[in-house]
Amino acid sequence: MTSIDEHYGHFSHLDSILNTIRQAYPEGPSPFQLAPIDQLHIGGIKASERLLKRITNAGRILEIGSGLGGLSRLCYHNQHKAALYVCLDITHPLNKLNSTLNQLTASHCSSVLTADGQSLPFNDDSFDYVVMQHSLLNIPDKNKALQEISRVLSPNGQLILHEVLKGSNYESMQFPVPWASQPDHSHLIEEEALLSLLNEKGFVISSIEDWTQEALLWRTRQTAKANKVQKPSLTPALVLGPNFSVMGSNVQKNLADSAIRIVEVVAVPE
Ligand SMILES: C[S@@+](CC[C@H](N)C(=O)[O-])C[C@H]1O[C@@H](n2cnc3c(N)ncnc32)[C@H](O)[C@@H]1O
Repeated sequence: MTSIDEHYGHFSHLDSILNTIRQAYPEGPSPFQLAPIDQLHIGGIKASERLLKRITNAGRILEIGSGLGGLSRLCYHNQHKAALYVCLDITHPLNKLNSTLNQLTASHCSSVLTADGQSLPFNDDSFDYVVMQHSLLNIPDKNKALQEISRVLSPNGQLILHEVLKGSNYESMQFPVPWASQPDHSHLIEEEALLSLLNEKGFVISSIEDWTQEALLWRTRQTAKANKVQKPSLTPALVLGPNFSVMGSNVQKNLADSAIRIVEVVAVPE
């Protein structure tokens, strides 16, 4: 079995990724131009814009499993320049590239930290928002992670999850997918199990939306783009490796076959 670091840490070629970005965008890339490599979730930058509407004031934001930090730069660019935004991720090479992208774009407000979402290095009541975008799906001990989130979130805070769940036909699930080369790294659960865990940890659900149909349309458009003769210079394969085209078409199949679902859940402490 490969480690989660091996799955996400294809960064012996960090310099070549930076050169590709510099050549494509010598003036410095915008969040929209970086989206093919730093919005590593189903739905891309549009889904992030939709999620960020939930963040209504520039408070203290913790993103767990922030990857390359696309959401944090978009948050800064689109709405909250004064937010105190912490990007936390377990994969150190992703964090290094996230910090470098921050310098390259000069549009950021985040600090970047390598840590495990199952053991958060913060005091109680440290954040107004905790956000997870396609990262709970990699976390084996959700009980521990949600316990930690409930501890660090302020009593008036909000937990915002944009996640992949098991669909009604999960038995047909195909691997590899962008978050797991093999089943061992994929920790999907059903909606009922997620809601019951949130409830156990003292959360009340303030909103739940199913984004599966939009996600399928988005993934279908991405496949069409990738099949064009003139390939874009920035693609998720730069980060997720040459197997990305198989991962992308498996996501499309899994969505179409109801093996997976995409939801946004907003939960608040009781
Ligand atoms: C599918 S990627 C999503 C990245 C980012 N949220 C995005 O949407 O572009 C999942 C991320 O979760 C991170 N991750 C996995 N397990 C984690 C853990 N236990 N604690 C913190 N981050 C974790 C991975 O390193 C990876 O960056």
